[in-house]
Amino acid sequence: MKVAFIGTGSMGSLLIEAFLRSGALHPHQICASNRSKPKAELLAKRHPGLRITHCNAEAANGSHIVFLCVKPLDYPSVVTELTDVLNEGQIVVSITSPVGIALLEGRIPSKVAKIIPSITHSALAGASLCIYGSRILPEDRLLLEQLMSSISLPTAIRESETRIASDIASCGPAFIAFILQQWAQEAAKLTGITLDEAVRLGAEMLHGTGKLLTEGGFTPQELQRRVAVPGGVTAEGIAVLQNGLQGVFKQLIEATHRKYDDDLGRLDLLFGAKPGSGADKEA
Ligand SMILES: NC(=O)c1ccc[n+]([C@@H]2O[C@H](COP(=O)([O-])OP(=O)(O)OC[C@H]3O[C@@H](n4cnc5c(N)ncnc54)[C@H](OP(=O)(O)O)[C@@H]3O)[C@@H](O)[C@H]2O)c1
Repeated sequence: MKVAFIGTGSMGSLLIEAFLRSGALHPHQICASNRSKPKAELLAKRHPGLRITHCNAEAANGSHIVFLCVKPLDYPSVVTELTDVLNEGQIVVSITSPVGIALLEGRIPSKVAKIIPSITHSALAGASLCIYGSRILPEDRLLLEQLMSSISLPTAIRESETRIASDIASCGPAFIAFILQQWAQEAAKLTGITLDEAVRLGAEMLHGTGKLLTEGGFTPQELQRRVAVPGGVTAEGIAVLQNGLQGVFKQLIEATHRKYDDDLGRLDLLFGAKPGSGADKEA
């Protein structure tokens, strides 16, 4: 099986390296293209056998799966470049949330899926969010899920849930890292602990908490009940969080959705589609 990656920035490179590390793909199965040369050249240097090209159409040509790993506003030009080389048998995977499956199906002859990855896949962990277009057959879905399960937990979602699911699975690591950073900085400022030590303890705590929630059979409520015994120090801390976080997640969800809606509008313009007609609509 040949797999192409168009765009080898942060996510394209991360996916390639995770697939290679997991053993799901070998370098000779991969062809990668990128607008500027150095990022793709670095990958080829690190993984002998991995083919790179400056031409997106050349990378896609003959590949069974084509991952589109460019930013949303670069989609229109990339899709235009690929239209003539793609065929009905290929699977095109978009990793970006606002570009709708129906819109892509209207522009290219291939089968289309949207898979939103997460930085957590570089640790071969985290959920990848999978949305399948109307041309995807059960065997295509199986192939994609087999591939994605080598680096993540593939999780099927509805396209209308893309934003909120991406907030949690894909933006979530940055949100949680921000909270840990704030907490550790304050801990270092107020007590004798060093910032490094506070971050290390917090990271181990997050690792363990994730395991308890995924493999340990705990729900978030049960975890709180087990740790925050009545009258204890944890209960005091939870009371502070209850007060301080009031409305924060509502604001966060509203902010990400607002930005997403802006991106949808700009994409409609770039694709020359009627506003609200193409991007992120149910396929
Ligand atoms: N970062 C995340 O955690 C994350 C998570 C889930 C999904 N995503 C999605 O993944 C997509 C890529 O994000 P990213 O963080 O990887 O961005 P990025 O680091 O900027 O990478 C995008 C890459 O696309 C290349 N590119 C742009 N136009 C191109 C073209 N016409 N042909 C070939 N390559 C082209 C860029 O090349 P240059 O070197 O010339 O700039 C760059 O290397 C975005 O849509 C984002 O929403 C990101």
